Amino acid sequence: MMNGYIKIEQSPPLQGEAELVGAKNAVLVIMASLLLTSGKSRLMNVPCSTDVLHMIKLLKELGAHVTFVSEEHFLEVDTTGVNRWTVSAEIMKKMRASILVMGSLLSRFGYCDVALPGGCVIGERPIDYHLKNFEKMGALIDINGEFLQARTPNKLVGQRLVLAYPSVGATENLIMLATLAQGTTEIINAALEPEVLDFITVLKKMGASIEIELPATIIVEGVNNLVPIEHTIMMDRLEAGSLLLATAATGGEIYLPQAQADMLDVLLLKLEEMGHKIIADSTKQGIRLKATKYPRAVSFKTGPYPSFPTDLQAPMMVLQCLASGTSVIEETVYENRLLHVRELQKMGAQIQVNYNKAIINGVEELYGAPVIASDIRASCALVIAGLVATGKTIMTGIKHWQRGYETLEKKLITLGAYLHVELSDKDQPSLTQVTDSLLEEAGV
Ligand code: EPZ
Repeated sequence: MMNGYIKIEQSPPLQGEAELVGAKNAVLVIMASLLLTSGKSRLMNVPCSTDVLHMIKLLKELGAHVTFVSEEHFLEVDTTGVNRWTVSAEIMKKMRASILVMGSLLSRFGYCDVALPGGCVIGERPIDYHLKNFEKMGALIDINGEFLQARTPNKLVGQRLVLAYPSVGATENLIMLATLAQGTTEIINAALEPEVLDFITVLKKMGASIEIELPATIIVEGVNNLVPIEHTIMMDRLEAGSLLLATAATGGEIYLPQAQADMLDVLLLKLEEMGHKIIADSTKQGIRLKATKYPRAVSFKTGPYPSFPTDLQAPMMVLQCLASGTSVIEETVYENRLLHVRELQKMGAQIQVNYNKAIINGVEELYGAPVIASDIRASCALVIAGLVATGKTIMTGIKHWQRGYETLEKKLITLGAYLHVELSDKDQPSLTQVTDSLLEEAGV
């Protein structure tokens, strides 16, 4: 059976305007948080990526009723009937963000059975910060084989929790656990990504009591009950960054009316250092980029927000491959998130890897080649590389692209990109309306 692929050909400078979809890294945790309530919640601006479809499948496995009208980006979740607390290995393998239902299930039902999330290509991705702090709050955790059983024999009690690293997932899981615990929980060295703040907005709408104290402490006062909500998911700043990077790479011009500059400050700073022109008012929405024809190399280090986002490191590396001079990219969030280097080298990029650093010497041109995507953001980098490379690029590993982007390829094509997506019959069909029955048919 032929695998799906994306064919990319050298394209003219991208020109135009693009809308954004809802943020993947906000919607997944917000969907998981609905389990804290009993009743019907409604989410707007929900992207139709395979990760969202997998989270829908997980909520249905737990007993929730879900209606998703993907073409309207509208999702309704009724958690009244939730009566199961197991996350299967099958769903966990497909989407490690399934771990985010641990906090909400434990908080509301006092019990959950979760298949251990394996690592993935970008790193081992342990969940020790989650588990250690669950236990500190009074949860009992047993690991049997590849399953993790957690229960709270007594009411959870608020604690002072310190994270060794501002883990996004651990912060989110611990906040959910603390919302219905007894007393006050403090999370020190918490993650404060914009997606975490959107998630906190949802919890406060549910009735949770959450405050943020400088430099990075989240304080949660436990309450007795949380109620269903309506919420519009924030725009995806990572999609915005990807569109800006694709435009800069091809020497074009783009306007993103819904993008918020104050969520991408370091990326925009680095693009300006390269010589690209950025017009953005951080108090309002809207970012315009006009690419320079003579980009200069810049160096950067990824890190927790507001540092340079690790999820834009791969696509930004493509710009350094064609900039004049030498740049150094240091990946500090994941131990193995430089796998796209080998694929870019196949296209003629001059990159050396030294542990978690990539040293890039700019070249005149890249050449189309068959390449393989290793994760969502690597797939974005390889598509951008294909847009600027001489000739044709065929990228396999299309499932990564589908996990993270809802038809980003259509936006790029509208902007002038020469792209063709070839889905094999085993790839996720693009569903126009996803209800209970259609999910079964789709095998999600
Ligand atoms: C979230 O993953 C995002 N995913 C990731 O986006 C993003 O790259 C990451 O945050 C960092 O911003 C979602 O929100 C669904 P972490 P998460 O816990 O929560 C280590 C994408 O491409 N760690 O902040 O899993 C971990 O191994 C994805 O959209 C522990 O050691 O990230 C990693 O090295 C990829 N122990 C670092 O912390 C723990 O208990 C950051 O992980 C937890 C994490």
